[in-house]
Amino acid sequence: MADTKGSATLTIGNKAIDLPIHSPTVGPDVLDIRKLYAQGDVFTYDPGFTSTASCSSTITYIDGDKGELLYRGYPIEQLAEKSHHLEVCYLLLYGELPTAQQMVDFETRVTRHTMVHEQMHYFFRGFRRDAHPMATMVGVVGAMSAFYHDSTDVNDPWQREVAAIRMVAKIPTIAAMAYKYSIGQPFVYPKNSLDYAGNFLHMCFAVPAEDYVVDPILAKAMDRIMMLHADHEQNASTSTVRLAGSSGANPFACIAAGIACLWGPAHGGANQACLEMLREIGTVDRIPEFIARAKDKNDPFRLMGFGHRVYKNFDPRAKVMKESADEVLGLLGIHDNETLKVAKELERIALEDPYFVEKKLYPNVDFYSGIILEAMGFPTSMFTPIFALSRAVGWIAQWKEMIGDPELKIGRPRQLYTGAPRRDYSEVEER
Ligand code: SDX
Repeated sequence: MADTKGSATLTIGNKAIDLPIHSPTVGPDVLDIRKLYAQGDVFTYDPGFTSTASCSSTITYIDGDKGELLYRGYPIEQLAEKSHHLEVCYLLLYGELPTAQQMVDFETRVTRHTMVHEQMHYFFRGFRRDAHPMATMVGVVGAMSAFYHDSTDVNDPWQREVAAIRMVAKIPTIAAMAYKYSIGQPFVYPKNSLDYAGNFLHMCFAVPAEDYVVDPILAKAMDRIMMLHADHEQNASTSTVRLAGSSGANPFACIAAGIACLWGPAHGGANQACLEMLREIGTVDRIPEFIARAKDKNDPFRLMGFGHRVYKNFDPRAKVMKESADEVLGLLGIHDNETLKVAKELERIALEDPYFVEKKLYPNVDFYSGIILEAMGFPTSMFTPIFALSRAVGWIAQWKEMIGDPELKIGRPRQLYTGAPRRDYSEVEER
């Protein structure tokens, strides 16, 4: 737990309650209200947890005003330029960048776990052919606890470690299988000779009928997308994983819960929704119509890929993603991409519009990612599964941190009850 620096006094009626103040490494101080109900007989009320820290963590830090994102203290821009996803996985899981030997050992362990139990192939067949890959991912990842019993005891540190390696290693295989199943093509086994991102592309795009050579441009872009999505403090899906894990549920069930939460269009589903929105806008001249709808209180439409609970400045991941979109499309010889043109013009117009400026709404990680993924050959239905496979390491790192926390308690929020007061049952004749 962070250092404590004094306290705040809350006066409720004739009661004065001292609440300790904890100081973080960086960021706002934290008011410790754990004793509030016992001493003051009141709850706090914070739907959506806009001002509430659910835990202490050493993994990721976001400064929303500055538009800063740090993985274990390292700026995302530096990692995106100099690191690679598997090295970031090591950093998020173990807290430090690996030595050359540690990286070799980690990569060997992950590579040796990329295959899934052969019987899992049959598990997919229970889904309708046209099932959304996120639906199959939720089901199959949850089913991992039926196949890997020897890494489900959350109280055994070694089993927690094995579960983490298995999750990082197998989630790209499962995502690729979900994709292959959705397009009616045979599953492609992982190849140990390929790196993490290249292996995923190979499992998605190779077919038995011909050789598939991984394009290094696409592999680098895929790896960067994975790094940018790897972790993000206590977002909705990570909080879901932590809440599920706080009951002692096995890690695979917790990650499946995180995948389910990520699917929502307000969260990880926004990358699919954003590209579909850009396609619906179609051309630059239709942008004002959609900006007007986004500002209209009576219209539920929102600019997908815009706005963020924490970032009130540019999402640093969106900046890297925008540069990557230009680079990847250029290298692929895609020079006249209407969707990218619409996205850039939409960003320019929105950022000059008082509505977006006053509400501090900027493009987020989902605004440009779909353009790159579409250029790489993925259908929109694979955008959120790719977000999920990228975030799996963040989820499992946060889960491990929580389970290892001596202050771990089951998550059990209270409520502001506004329902009926106590009343007696009325017979049907009396109603
Ligand atoms: C991710 O939490 C994370 O870290 C998530 C994530 C991660 O890496 O895990 O970063 C990934 O989920 C990114 C966000 C992807 N979602 C979208 O792009 C969907 C579109 N964005 C919005 O739905 C919204 O911005 C949220 C959900 C992202 C944030 O919502 P908040 O923090 O609850 O803010 P809000 O809904 O209270 O909005 C504040 C105001 C509102 O207007 P008022 O009621 O104050 O008048 O801004 C408006 C909103 O109507 N607003 C938007 C808008 N987003 C907010 N108006 C138009 N278009 C938008 N996109």
